[in-house]
Amino acid sequence: MCEAAAGFMTEYYEGLRARRVMPEVSSAELRGLVVEPLPRGGMEFDALLGVVRDVIVQNSRHNGHPRFFGYVASPGTAVSAVGEMLTATLNANVTSWRSSPAAAEIERVVVQWLKEMLGYPESALGLFVSGGSMANFSALAAARAAKGPADVSQAGMGASGRRMRVYVSEETHYSSRKAAGLLGIGEANVVVVRTDGRGRMDVEDLQRVVRLDEEAGALPLCVVGSAGTVSTGAFDPLAEIGEVARAHNLWFHVDGAYGGFAALAPSARGLFRGIEAADSVTLDPHKWAYLPTGVGCVLYRDGMWARKAFAHDADYTRVMGQGQDESFAFWDYGPELSRRFRALGLWLLLKHVGAEALGAAIEQNMACARYVERLVGGSDDLEMLAPVGLSVFCFRYAPPGYSGDLDELNERVLVELQRDGSSYLSNARVGGRFALRGCVLNYRTTERDMEVMVEDVRRVGRGLAGEA
Ligand SMILES: Cc1ncc(COP(=O)(O)O)c(C=O)c1O
Repeated sequence: MCEAAAGFMTEYYEGLRARRVMPEVSSAELRGLVVEPLPRGGMEFDALLGVVRDVIVQNSRHNGHPRFFGYVASPGTAVSAVGEMLTATLNANVTSWRSSPAAAEIERVVVQWLKEMLGYPESALGLFVSGGSMANFSALAAARAAKGPADVSQAGMGASGRRMRVYVSEETHYSSRKAAGLLGIGEANVVVVRTDGRGRMDVEDLQRVVRLDEEAGALPLCVVGSAGTVSTGAFDPLAEIGEVARAHNLWFHVDGAYGGFAALAPSARGLFRGIEAADSVTLDPHKWAYLPTGVGCVLYRDGMWARKAFAHDADYTRVMGQGQDESFAFWDYGPELSRRFRALGLWLLLKHVGAEALGAAIEQNMACARYVERLVGGSDDLEMLAPVGLSVFCFRYAPPGYSGDLDELNERVLVELQRDGSSYLSNARVGGRFALRGCVLNYRTTERDMEVMVEDVRRVGRGLAGEA
């Protein structure tokens, strides 16, 4: 069984570049292939693997393809895919040290490496969660425990006479806003701070809105800085935001879900100045550490606040008769009780290739995005809509003399490009305009892939602009 599956994995990776990025299939066609009554009997594994290959894999979008540039999606790595198999084989439930001694220690050691990568205090505490959204949620829960009304998790929001306020920028990922809603802070109490011409939080505007809230009797709670925004890859001025946070007693959270691992790339290292003062940080190994989906990470500068937000005393989880280290329980610091052994994939990757190779791959991704900027700059039918931020590029097709609506044209270009199957971009709105947006997040991607993607956009665009 395992040999057959491993053989298929090798075949998949070797053939990835030759595949269409997006399958040419409708939902109805796919349902026709998979819908059946509850299987009553079994099926041989070899035959089942054939179905996985011919139906599931064949009809999937291939995020590991070197010209998949949509969203902020990881390509996966072979070693961490094997790690997934080993994780499921061991089937550790990493609730606490007692439940899974080795997995707990591996998690601690990998978290320690991530702190080292960022220059974050050694005394900070961290744990793996399902992704960036959950990490942002966990951080905001700790922020609420630290800066909100006393005992808000017990007494509920009704006990607080003041509106808590969370500050984000126009470019902050919506998961922080969603977390504020889920935590009862209220999405209406998320204050949007202006950005500068490069999409970075405007610190003077932050100061202005915090002061206004203080004067109005609201309770400024937390500011979220982005280490790489989702739309344009902008990097907020972390040190300056940290100073405002300190001056106004705000919790300072850094959402590094997309850009956090760029700390390993020498050319981006300087952007992280000030992160060491953050109260919490989100990292997403299932983005720029190239891990398979399902691994996020939250770091808390002082784990006590996370404990205040999440710890519960229940007799069925009480740890008895163990020393301090062995009585450690992850459930005290995050929303989950049962947890997969998420650290293994990253441990395997870092041990197998080393942090330097990972940093070099990230550096190469950023170089590919800058190459797009040069390709677009040297053309008369394409136009950049934002400066390249980390590895994100935003541009549009704008053929000379085109008199139609460019937003509408580019929206059609995007849909057609995705259908075409050679390259895949997603979209963003930049300065009110519809942008073709790509994020290079794959160690397989080369400059040649960027040339092919640009040619694909042109080929599709010419067809559509000619039609209009
Ligand atoms: C900056 C940022 N924060 C948070 C998230 C949410 O992460 P996840 O999809 O892992 O929940 C994303 C996703 O793209 C992101 O780019």
